[in-house]
Amino acid sequence: MQNPFKPTAGATPPDLIGRAGLLDEFEYGLHQGSGAPGLLAIITGSRGIGKTVMLNAAEATAKEHGWAVISRTATPGFLAKIGDDMLRLTDELGDGPPTRKITAFSAAGFGLTTQLPAERVPDWRRTGEELLRLLDAQGTGLVITIDEIHAVDRTEISQLAADVQHFIRDGLPIGLVFAGLPSAVSDLLNEGVATFLRRADRINLHEAAIAEVTASYRELFRDGGIDVAPELLDEAAEATEGYPFLIQLVGYYLWMEAGKASWTLDQNSVHKATAAAQRRNTLVVVESALSDISDKDREFLHAMAEQDGPSAAAQIGHIITSKPNVVSKYRNRLIAAGLIEPAGYGKVDFAIPGLRQYLRG
Ligand SMILES: Nc1ncnc2c1ncn2[C@@H]1O[C@H](COP(=O)(O)OP(=O)(O)OP(=O)(O)O)[C@@H](O)[C@H]1O
Ligand SMILES: [Mg+2]
Repeated sequence: MQNPFKPTAGATPPDLIGRAGLLDEFEYGLHQGSGAPGLLAIITGSRGIGKTVMLNAAEATAKEHGWAVISRTATPGFLAKIGDDMLRLTDELGDGPPTRKITAFSAAGFGLTTQLPAERVPDWRRTGEELLRLLDAQGTGLVITIDEIHAVDRTEISQLAADVQHFIRDGLPIGLVFAGLPSAVSDLLNEGVATFLRRADRINLHEAAIAEVTASYRELFRDGGIDVAPELLDEAAEATEGYPFLIQLVGYYLWMEAGKASWTLDQNSVHKATAAAQRRNTLVVVESALSDISDKDREFLHAMAEQDGPSAAAQIGHIITSKPNVVSKYRNRLIAAGLIEPAGYGKVDFAIPGLRQYLRG
């Protein structure tokens, strides 16, 4: 049997652990149509927590309900690409020869600029309206998903938000689901770039419970005919800290080790698998998360790494010799960046597994 685990960014896992019910409002919105609150949703969470996978799930749900889906990553020019997607869908749906005189949006290099040229904005809107009216007539609508909004130019996001708001006001069936790091989302909402997005349903993703990971492993390994003692399964599940990317990595390496030993796993192979998974996690997640923070942020993290559990603000302030208001500024910034998280009154802890060990090393 093939290894079912998917330790790859954006790849749908064999078992979506701990996410039951999170898309219920969205799904309800698909039944209600235009203007339903659940049709506007923002998925946030730290790196590797499963944002892209949730977007995939939302897209699948929308398609099951017969809705059209446009799925884009927020790279410069994504608005023009959405325009092209809308043109393509309209052509597929509409009968008879197209009467529109609109040419592709990303042709002639528009796709490379960060903004749709002002003269093309009315075309974009008209294309959207035409498509939405066609879908509305069929009793469905359009869901647009945008991943990695932290990477994008504000003008494009605010343009998209304005257009979507306009469609909603006209009673057209549109849904918009974003995913991004908590920092990007709070900035976006606070800067007033797209005020109407404040009404969006916030879906904040967290680690899975260890017991759920154990249960999922038990089932997947049993289905694969792999023999493993319950206490070893517990150990493997604990090594993941409930963190989705690590759940896939640990599972993947366990499966690989089992394949070398006629589909059984002993203590030694479990150790080998968890160590390999942690190394790979460090390489992929930790180093990329640390690549774009300031020196002062780094000092703050090193101060935290001196403790074994959550750190108190006062403790950190003492180590980095900074006043409480300064400490609180870095604290908020690191929380927003998805690197640390509040852990009880006045305390913070690391939000990415392996980060503490990495900083100590
Ligand atoms: N609920 C889940 N249960 C088990 N595994 C999951 C779950 N959600 C995501 N994963 C796995 O975790 C990994 C990361 O998922 P994903 O790429 O969606 O994260 P992300 O939050 O988009 O990360 P990034 O911030 O790097 O874009 C993938 O290997 C995916 O298969
Ligand atoms: Mg992602």
